[in-house]
Amino acid sequence: MVTEPPSRAQVPPAPAVSRAQVLVASNRGPVSYTVRDDGTLTSKRGGGGLVSGLSAIGSGADAVWVCAALGDGDREAVRRTGGRLDPADTGGQRVRMLGIAPEVYSDAYNGVANSTLWFVHHLLYQTPLEPSFGPEFRLQWASYEAYNRAFAEALADEAAEGAAVLVQDYHLALVPGMLRALRPDLRIGHFSHTPWAPVDYYRLLPDDIGRQLLRGILGADRAAFLTRRWADAFTACCTELLGGTGNTRIGVHGLGSDADFLRERAHRADVDERIVTLREQIGRSTSTGEVRKTIVRVDRTELSKNIVRGLLSYRRLLADHPEWHDRVVHVAFAYPSRQDLEVYRDYTAEVRRVTDAINDEFGTEDWSPVVMHVQDDFARSLAAYRLADVALVNPIRDGMNLVAKEIPVVSERGCALVLSREAGAYEEMGEDALGVNPYDISATAKALHEALSMPLDERTERAKRLAAAATALPPQQWFLDQLTALRAL
Ligand code: F6P
Repeated sequence: MVTEPPSRAQVPPAPAVSRAQVLVASNRGPVSYTVRDDGTLTSKRGGGGLVSGLSAIGSGADAVWVCAALGDGDREAVRRTGGRLDPADTGGQRVRMLGIAPEVYSDAYNGVANSTLWFVHHLLYQTPLEPSFGPEFRLQWASYEAYNRAFAEALADEAAEGAAVLVQDYHLALVPGMLRALRPDLRIGHFSHTPWAPVDYYRLLPDDIGRQLLRGILGADRAAFLTRRWADAFTACCTELLGGTGNTRIGVHGLGSDADFLRERAHRADVDERIVTLREQIGRSTSTGEVRKTIVRVDRTELSKNIVRGLLSYRRLLADHPEWHDRVVHVAFAYPSRQDLEVYRDYTAEVRRVTDAINDEFGTEDWSPVVMHVQDDFARSLAAYRLADVALVNPIRDGMNLVAKEIPVVSERGCALVLSREAGAYEEMGEDALGVNPYDISATAKALHEALSMPLDERTERAKRLAAAATALPPQQWFLDQLTALRAL
């Protein structure tokens, strides 16, 4: 939705509390709220790298997390608390949630961050028709500026003298520059969780906006990325558009999976229950009586994850290798994501259509070639991880991809990993994975065949090395390393 450019993002002031030494800012916070029919609020805590990363400094630390209210429940929580959330809802974490006006938020998040910047960094445009930047985009851009300003002002308000501020992602690219102007005393870091676009593709953005975004991030003392490749792409854009990166240091901090958490969580009763159901859905081959092999994928239904080409590769495998009929099941979980955007709703429909087409073409009374689930269920994802013979992770482009770093850690028989060379994780795991060009469905089908046919001892050995590489940089270390580097400046 496009609206009049707001002069301010209309965030009411929060009541004063002591100022923080460490601040994290991200669009999505660690908790979300829903309003029940009776008007009461329920809260749900999220997971992910940032939540575990921040846990490294302990709940007693003088830290605050600044995030946006994403929906009506969050906005109601902000209205009732003034934005400083009840620590009982957040696991003790101090959280300041910003109640940005819904139209401003929608233009900034859906219009600019997800429909423009995400598309640029993941190379998702169908360029004969898009992008196309006119007056409507300029109005959305004004909202993006207002939303970034709301974060910068809240951070300036919350930070103690000389505090360290860790700003996350493409949603908040302008925050470092704005915050630097308000509070020159702060140490500011910016971290990109996405890839960074190659220069020629980055230049699709209007020239002034391309430069404004780079200058915004360069307002930080350090700009950091998940891999060297994305850091170099950023530096190349700065050199080409601005003549250099100025005084900003460029850092690389890979993010791994949290082995202790995953292994413990994957063996709780709710996961065991789901394994029983999944095993029934996978079944045994009617001819050999053996348990069918599994190719597992778990993703948000996100354009960059390349789920449709993954399914088409599996279809190719079944067409080229009839020996796998009735002996393999593709367990594919595609959870809802960004459903406010039409292109995501269409993509979700295409995932379902291709799944049905494969099951219609190859399925029998006793064998469903694809077992697809679309409702988010973390325990069921872990159950699938445990049962994986092959993990399929084939994104068009991905900052890191943590699923590639989770399945080998949890899989019980040590899985083979088919991994896109365009995922950040490929830099650390490429040697023991079967690397694929994500656009090449014939090559991906071949890799799936190789992975399914890999001798068990080779698979086990590779999986051990994959698990070691996947867990080498746990989220706590990822977070502390950034903090240390920032403070050392
Ligand atoms: O990869 C960038 C990122 O912000 C991740 O940190 C996160 O997994 C994903 O995008 C989530 O997107 P959203 O908040 O739009 O669901």
